[in-house]
Amino acid sequence: MDPTPLIDMQQVLTRYPSGRIALGGVTLRIHRGEFVFVVGESGAGKSTLLSLLYGALPAASGHLTVAGVDLRTAKSRAVRALRRQCGVIFQDHRLLFRRTVFENIALPLQVQRHPKARMVGRVEAALAFVGLSDAIWSYPDTLSGGEQQRVAIARAMARQPKLILADEPTGNLDYDTALQVTRYLVELQRKGSTVIMATHDLQLLEAFPSRVITLHAGAVVEDRG
Ligand SMILES: Nc1ncnc2c1ncn2[C@@H]1O[C@H](COP(=O)(O)OP(=O)(O)OP(=O)(O)O)[C@@H](O)[C@H]1O
Ligand SMILES: [Mg+2]
Repeated sequence: MDPTPLIDMQQVLTRYPSGRIALGGVTLRIHRGEFVFVVGESGAGKSTLLSLLYGALPAASGHLTVAGVDLRTAKSRAVRALRRQCGVIFQDHRLLFRRTVFENIALPLQVQRHPKARMVGRVEAALAFVGLSDAIWSYPDTLSGGEQQRVAIARAMARQPKLILADEPTGNLDYDTALQVTRYLVELQRKGSTVIMATHDLQLLEAFPSRVITLHAGAVVEDRG
C-alpha cells in the first residue's frame, strides 16, 4: 500500500457559521484505491465529512491533506484544482433537466476546457460504463430515478477523478436499484478510483463488504474492515 494516504485527517474540527460543531476532532486516513462506506445516524456528520474532503467547507482546526493538498493552508486555486480531481455524487443527483444527458456529462468537461475532440468519446465511454448508451440524447426527466443516478455517476467519472465522493447516492432508490448503483461505484474502485460513499442503507454494507467508518455525533466511533 502507498505509504502516503490520499486523505490524511487529524483532529479535524468543523464548525458551521451557526456555531454548531459538526465534527469534533476526527482522525482518519484513507489510501488510494480504497472503497469506504461512511455510516451513522442523521446529523452524525457524514455530509460534513464529505464536504470537507473536496474543500467545500473549511476545517476550523486540525490537519487535513487530500491528494497532497493541505486544505487548511492551500490557496483557492489549489483547492479548485483539487475539486476538479473529485467526482461528487449526491442523493438528489443534481442533473440539469433542460439539458440532454450528453450535455449534463459534457458541460463539466467543457468548463474544465477538455479538448473537444476527446470529449464526445469520454461522454460515450462513461455512459457505456453505466449501461445507458441509448439515453445519450434523452432529457433526464424521461429517465427513472435509478437511471438518473447512473447518469450522475457517468458525469462524475467522465472527468476521471482520483476521488469519488458519493453522499447517499441511493437514498431515493429501491433496494435492487440501490444495489445496481452501488455496484457501479464498486466497479470504479476496482478500476483504480478511491470511492467514499455515505449511506443509511445497512443492507448495502452486507452486499459489498468494505471498510466501514461509523460516525456518531461528529466523532468516529468505529472503523472496521
Ligand atoms: N449548513 C449548516 N448549518 C448549520 N449546521 C449544519 C449545517 N449542515 C449541517 N449542520 C449540522 O451539522 C451536523 C452534521 O450534519 P450532516 O449534514 O453532516 O449530517 P449527516 O450525517 O449527513 O446527516 P443525514 O444522514 O441526515 O444526511 C448536524 O448536527 C447538522 O444539524
Ligand atoms: Mg447527509
